[in-house]
Amino acid sequence: MSKREVILTGDTPTGQLHIGHYVGSVRRRLELQETHDCYFLLANMHAYTTRADHPAEIHADTLEIVRDYLAMGIDPNKAAITLQSETPAIAELTFLFAMLLPFNRVMRNPTLKEEIKVKDLGENYSFGFPLYAVGQTADILAFRAHSVPVGEDQIPHIELTREVARRFNKLYCGINENIEDDDPEMEERGVFPIPRADVGKVGRLIGTDGVHKMSKSLDNVILITDTPKKVKKKIGQIYTGRQSMTDPGDADSSLMQYVDTFITDSTRAAELKDKYVRGDNIGDGHIKVEIAEAISELLAPMQERRSEHEGDDDTIIDIIRDGTRRANVQTEETLARAKEASGLGFFERKISF
Ligand code: TRP
Repeated sequence: MSKREVILTGDTPTGQLHIGHYVGSVRRRLELQETHDCYFLLANMHAYTTRADHPAEIHADTLEIVRDYLAMGIDPNKAAITLQSETPAIAELTFLFAMLLPFNRVMRNPTLKEEIKVKDLGENYSFGFPLYAVGQTADILAFRAHSVPVGEDQIPHIELTREVARRFNKLYCGINENIEDDDPEMEERGVFPIPRADVGKVGRLIGTDGVHKMSKSLDNVILITDTPKKVKKKIGQIYTGRQSMTDPGDADSSLMQYVDTFITDSTRAAELKDKYVRGDNIGDGHIKVEIAEAISELLAPMQERRSEHEGDDDTIIDIIRDGTRRANVQTEETLARAKEASGLGFFERKISF
């Protein structure tokens, strides 16, 4: 029996997507939607962990992500674009999984710690903030996903998810903890496959500050909607510390990451890199212009597609409704199995919308 693997990944609505999302994750999804059962989750509940006081913004940001998905080439007929808040199995599994995880294990998650630091949350974060890490395990396991395409920073969440899946399968399905992920027994007797992280070639794109990961909250992003002029200006701001055209450059600099990522002609990319590293009469300014042009070329067709859906919320909502319906078929089935295994199964229920 050849069954297609299930792919689940998601985005928290925090505003428009940017080219870091594209090269880090969305580009990979475009390939996967052709060959796998893909679910792309709009993690709108997650957005409430730190912005519960901005409901209208989160609502609007959720629709914006879908516009960006469509612009980047995600096809809602192939992949199900799914709303987290209308996929109740996720919330129910979150509650159950929260019982399977020691509190201090959740708090050890380095991604959470980093977020507390970067967003300057101190000790005043909501109870729901660390709960979102448990919620993310439920996002993935509710779909019985095999693989999760994500950026590098999400790896700790996938680790936690793998632990939850193994613990559940052990506790409630009697599966020995020492068997391999791909042991057929895991899927035959267990409720949850053990998902793996699928980190793309560019796990972490540096932002235009040349230092931190590209991230909306750090104001160092290039948006899908940025005009060629804006792109040129933002790329122009990348600081390299090089003083002259004959200074030998650093092969690992953010500028070179951009060359590797966006200059699609690999001969040209190698040439630029070679000259830069040797300080062979090549200015940062020149390299930046080539990068900016390459990025704008990549964005042009996306911007055209995006303009087709500008202002049209109804179509976007239809797309989400359809994807969420498909998601509920899959996740309600998971939930029923999980409840049956864990002593919570009493009678059948149906949800409809
Ligand atoms: N936490 C992810 C981010 O901020 C978004 C996300 C939510 C996600 N649920 C997920 C990613 C499940 C992968 C799988 O980028």
